[in-house]
Amino acid sequence: MGRIEGKTALVTGGSRGIGRAIAVELAREGARVAVNYASNEAKAQEVAEEISALGEKCLLVQANVGKANEARAMVDKVANEFGHLDVLVNNAGITRDSMLPKMTDEQWVEVIQTNLGGCFFCTSAAIPFMSNQSFGRIINISSMNGQVPAMGQANYSASKGGIIAFTRTAAAELVRSGITVNTIAPGYTDTDMFAAVPDVIQAQIKSKIPMGRYGHPEEIAKAVVFLVADGDYITGQQINVNGGAFM
Ligand SMILES: NC(=O)c1ccc[n+]([C@@H]2O[C@H](COP(=O)([O-])OP(=O)(O)OC[C@H]3O[C@@H](n4cnc5c(N)ncnc54)[C@H](OP(=O)(O)O)[C@@H]3O)[C@@H](O)[C@H]2O)c1
Repeated sequence: MGRIEGKTALVTGGSRGIGRAIAVELAREGARVAVNYASNEAKAQEVAEEISALGEKCLLVQANVGKANEARAMVDKVANEFGHLDVLVNNAGITRDSMLPKMTDEQWVEVIQTNLGGCFFCTSAAIPFMSNQSFGRIINISSMNGQVPAMGQANYSASKGGIIAFTRTAAAELVRSGITVNTIAPGYTDTDMFAAVPDVIQAQIKSKIPMGRYGHPEEIAKAVVFLVADGDYITGQQINVNGGAFM
């Protein structure tokens, strides 16, 4: 018997990388999981098959979380189909890197709208369902690069720092509704997003990680499961899963 048997969860950006690992770990612990993706249906289908093999129900939901109407319709659909919504993991995120002098308005807006806007749109759509059931676990995936300077990522670090600030206020506002809101801030983690970083920069980054390696997506997922299964008295916090790269 899993630790979160009977719970339902929506993981945004669950088709690849960290979101995929989170969706699978939640299912392994007994949750029914909805996996959101933006465009990569084939990868999302793979996750659904992995979850089905664990004996859990998986719902695939395509939506661009950066578009308010799509994000809200997705949350409504998942909550109505499952009958309740216990866990929301705001994980979907993108990078559009450029040093500030060359950063375009489009790069700025797309990253803020997807990473921070998506977090708000999905959270606000989930609140009525979670308030009605007097229970909710909202986990927002930020980044170490929202805590330290990140060259070429003014848009990304602003979105991720914004998620940390958003989390605190949301936690304070929702605490009396039985909803906890927390952030997990991963360090450099081995996914497609990080693979896009040039090799020479990756080597520099690795040399500065005290544990001497990148994180595995499953290590982020374990922190999510901990908050869902054992985090009854934890809200407004951030858990750094970064191999000691930021202390
Ligand atoms: N990897 C790292 O080193 C690292 C470090 C710190 C924080 N993070 C954060 O962790 C989260 C996951 O990162 P990752 O490395 O796993 O990324 P990834 O491998 O690039 O996967 C991104 C996921 O987000 C989805 N997605 C992208 N834009 C979306 C949108 N507009 N609406 C809905 N879904 C969207 C993608 O769907 P499709 O498959 O359909 O494209 C995919 O499932 C992000 O928030 C990222 O900022 C990552």
